[in-house]
Amino acid sequence: MVAAYLDADRREPNRQVGEVSSEKTNTDTEIDVDHLTEAEAKTALAVLADRLSAANAAYYIKDAPEMSDAAFDALKRRNAEIEARFPKLKRADSPTEQVGAAPASGFGKIAHRVPMLSLANAFTDDDVFEFDASVRKYLGLGSETMVDYTAEPKIDGLSLSLRYEKGELTEAATRGDGSVGENVISNARTIDDIPHTLDGAPDVLEVRGEVYMSHADFERLNEKPMGRGEKPFANPRNAAAGSLRQLDAEITRARPLRFFAYAWGDVSAPLSETQSGAIARLEELGFCVNPLMRKCSGPAQMVTHYAQIEEQRATLGYDIDGVVYKVDDLALQRRLGFRSTTPRWAIAHKFPAELAWTTLEGIDIQVGRTGALSPVARLAPVTVGGVVVSNATLHNEDYIRGFDSKGAEIRGGKDIRIGDWVQVYRAGDVIPKVADVDLSKRPPDASPFRFPDTCPECGSDAVREPGDAVRRCPGGLICPAQAVEKLKHLVSRGAFDIDGLGAKQVEQFYADGWIREPADIFTLKERYADGLQQLKNREGWGEKSAAALFDAIEDKRRIPLARLIFGLGIRHVGEAASSLVAHHYGSWEALLQAMEDARTQEGPAWDDLISIDGMGSVMAGSLVSAFAQEAERASIMRLVAQLDVQDSVRTDTHDSPVAGKTVVFTGTLEKMTRAEAKARAERLGAKVSGSVSAKTDILVAGPGAGSKATKAAELGVETLDEDGWLALIADA
Ligand code: IVH
Repeated sequence: MVAAYLDADRREPNRQVGEVSSEKTNTDTEIDVDHLTEAEAKTALAVLADRLSAANAAYYIKDAPEMSDAAFDALKRRNAEIEARFPKLKRADSPTEQVGAAPASGFGKIAHRVPMLSLANAFTDDDVFEFDASVRKYLGLGSETMVDYTAEPKIDGLSLSLRYEKGELTEAATRGDGSVGENVISNARTIDDIPHTLDGAPDVLEVRGEVYMSHADFERLNEKPMGRGEKPFANPRNAAAGSLRQLDAEITRARPLRFFAYAWGDVSAPLSETQSGAIARLEELGFCVNPLMRKCSGPAQMVTHYAQIEEQRATLGYDIDGVVYKVDDLALQRRLGFRSTTPRWAIAHKFPAELAWTTLEGIDIQVGRTGALSPVARLAPVTVGGVVVSNATLHNEDYIRGFDSKGAEIRGGKDIRIGDWVQVYRAGDVIPKVADVDLSKRPPDASPFRFPDTCPECGSDAVREPGDAVRRCPGGLICPAQAVEKLKHLVSRGAFDIDGLGAKQVEQFYADGWIREPADIFTLKERYADGLQQLKNREGWGEKSAAALFDAIEDKRRIPLARLIFGLGIRHVGEAASSLVAHHYGSWEALLQAMEDARTQEGPAWDDLISIDGMGSVMAGSLVSAFAQEAERASIMRLVAQLDVQDSVRTDTHDSPVAGKTVVFTGTLEKMTRAEAKARAERLGAKVSGSVSAKTDILVAGPGAGSKATKAAELGVETLDEDGWLALIADA
């Protein structure tokens, strides 16, 4: 039974737990909790998390318990005791935090034909006015022109994309990482609000919206007797997410889920010319749409409607966490387009965060992937907005002292001390934060917090560079915390995404010295397939799982350039930036050469790097430094020697007449703003540069073009006026 569950689990990246053998072989149970060393405790917690989650899955999902209730409870108690003795070792996936039945894995993957993006946030009315101003500026509209927007509640659930082909529901995909989601079609079919067939819809129609649970249904669900070791769901959103992601659709059917449609993805024919029209059309097709959606002309009406929705929030009967504004005219939406992960034509205006007071019991220092020493507040558990919070970020040493990154006072300059009575808040998914301190309740013996000046993990002197708010450990791969975090990052979803090699396995392999740096992952088989020490003989591993891991690693030797760049875990270089860099340079060799040429952070190679749209000089500096730093570069080169790095090609812009060309805009553009022109050119696969050189393919010169036009003429660069440019890209 266990093996059957694990086989299903193995399909999901970073979740595989190895083959759990019988409960009796749990070696850590032999050591008394009081005698465990920290390292042993860490391993024990990892093993217990695996065991309990596998046992839970067997019990709930496969309906086939693999251990007695008493054995299960004993393991849970042991886990809690170890956590109590070593609070800082408590894992993110701690079994004590387990909510309801473990969500199942093993769903098939679906690549979204149109990415499922997120929304930028606004927190104040001023932010909303600024959003409107940025929309008008991008479109080149004057302040006298009003733009129409829709304003509707932001539902606090989880998004789902439903694909209908010739009116039949064919796919239902969760958001996943925005590009690839999980196929939950069997579960979606059990939701009453989701039509199985549509009458009069375009041949292809992807309807997007939010799956949620009403307050009443949530309370009824939580009143039902809980299963063994189960805690009630923390809030309706967790309940909805846990219910939708069940392998057994019959469990989902028993959970009262609902669905609001508010957007669409791939469509074979436009639904309407406006956002509001498209939503009306979805309603006609049989979808539930939110009754509080209004059309607003300009930001003043938008914030008024926000206030009206906020007033009704408590009585709506379902959770919402803000109001979403969308430009109503779909032609304008198309012109505005997207930033790397969010549309320019929409924004979420969030409700103020929820607050609660509690005691600060301690401050731990965590060392992250890039060496940042991050203080974490350990709090006496407190419920904030329906969720129990027991830790919060304290950002950095200045923040603890009562100053922001620019040296200005925060909290009226009050510092934060262990023992303080602090106010914490959380908004949506963000990590809880400390908002305030009540000095009247400060214990008389509380002393100012002394931020460590050495790395708590490796003892290196932690340094704070001028202009950096964060103190960092310079240890790199020498620092165990950084090495482990870098390795975890490398195998994570957006990077190498190695099935069966998740955070837990990386921690264990690192602790045993099997994997010390990225390249070691790819020599694991060579070293541990045969011989005295073999993976298949390790606790938690067997022949099948070891072979599966080696295969999964082999599979990722061939890696797209963008994933490799992201996987390197370079500070400031996230997933979106990695794609930009990969598209820009095309190949690993070209990237390496460019990093070499841009080493001094000046000259043409550097200018070329920072000309990438979305690349700031800080990010560029960080990228170049990673390659310039000897030890880091050597480690990268050892990794790449193990890989077959695939060149980056823009598949969607093959047919564009400007794909791969370098374009420079100069002079005044009359039909679009410079930002719009640049974004559109880049969407079509062109590289937009700020200066004319021998590498320039096209100069687009508006009235008033000066020296750039002269230089282009000298170099024989093709020069177009704005209309010529628009004609060139008209059909692209
Ligand atoms: S529109 C291109 N409308 O919020 C973005 N999203 O932060 C299209 N959400 O992932 C999303 N209510 O899960 C939109 N009325 C609403 C929404 C909404 C909730 C969620 C959605 C999305 C997230 C973005």
